[in-house]
Amino acid sequence: MPALTDRDLTIVAPSLPPGLDTPAVVVDLDRVEANLAGMQRRLDERGVALRPHTKTHKSVRFAALQRDAGAVGLTVAVLSEAQLFADAGFDDVFVAYPVWAGGPKAARLRGLHERIRLTVGVDSVEGAVALGRALEGADRPLRVLVEIDSGELRTGVAPDGALPVAQAAADAGLDVAGVFTHGGHSYRGPQRVADAAADETDTLHRSVAALRGAGFAVDTVSAGSTPTALRSATGPVTEERPGTYIFGDRQQTNLGGADPASIALAVATTVVSTASGARQCVIDAGAKSLAKDRPGWLDGHGVIPGLPGAVITSVYDHHGIVALPDGVPVPDVGEQFAVVPNHVCPVVNLSDDLIITRDGGQVDVWPVDGRGLRA
Ligand SMILES: Cc1ncc(COP(=O)(O)O)c(C=O)c1O
Repeated sequence: MPALTDRDLTIVAPSLPPGLDTPAVVVDLDRVEANLAGMQRRLDERGVALRPHTKTHKSVRFAALQRDAGAVGLTVAVLSEAQLFADAGFDDVFVAYPVWAGGPKAARLRGLHERIRLTVGVDSVEGAVALGRALEGADRPLRVLVEIDSGELRTGVAPDGALPVAQAAADAGLDVAGVFTHGGHSYRGPQRVADAAADETDTLHRSVAALRGAGFAVDTVSAGSTPTALRSATGPVTEERPGTYIFGDRQQTNLGGADPASIALAVATTVVSTASGARQCVIDAGAKSLAKDRPGWLDGHGVIPGLPGAVITSVYDHHGIVALPDGVPVPDVGEQFAVVPNHVCPVVNLSDDLIITRDGGQVDVWPVDGRGLRA
């Protein structure tokens, strides 16, 4: 099992307000604001727009902060998230996903298109045809971006496959506005990030050349993941779509996507048992609070800065088992600790609401409006 990294050991968790009913998800609003302003400023300096992915927070109030900080619009993964934000008054939303416009989705897609400036992803001729069918007779064409695979091998065509999809989309009456990619292979380890960012710009560059060569007026070239956002914001790229940057998490600090002192979200937990007699304690946050995401290159299910070197070796639904290194005393039952999760996005999706703090004190509770939305 890989060891804890130096970056884990320097993570400064948000302070927990006293007396919390745990497990609870705590968000340091001062840090959120700094993270939003920092990303916005750096992209502004590069002349690249920010269209944050909202799957990280799934919350109208955080999206409003992103808009106020200068975001040009929002990115979502699914139509129901787009509907949530359209209902809240956001009028420019990109569904960065190859939406299959069959069944009830066709009518939902059309309804949204009639209300806002909607853009969706497409990576197949069949998908383009289905989108065109869903929008038949609409008063203006639907904007689509052709998805390019930059090395993640998830969705998206190779750069030389962009043109047939774009042509099918145009034939289906869609407005081919450009291309997008997600350098998600950056998550395969800290040593992969620089190359993944270069892959994003390179594959976008090649696909834009192919589309422009065939007469398409490409206006949007969209890249993005939190680890790669600042590196790939160059060349043909017109916008970036990081999402996790709003809160950061343990994985991001290790990938260089978040400063260890900038982590804005933690799961507050209480030690509920030390009865085993082993050099461990049991916390009341298990898989239903911390999720189970664990990249192969990180040990444990989150990091507890208040217990340096401790490893959350396993999670049950409601129990987290924390192995303690020599020299760290076994905490008392009832003590509370902040856990910085490995991957923040599923953690937010497991919580109805978020405890909002400033200067370590609770100032509000915000709902996770889009909790559970997935279609
Ligand atoms: C298509 C797409 N764009 C942008 C993002 C945001 O990336 P990150 O979570 O690294 O901020 C994601 C995340 O999964 C994604 O799938």
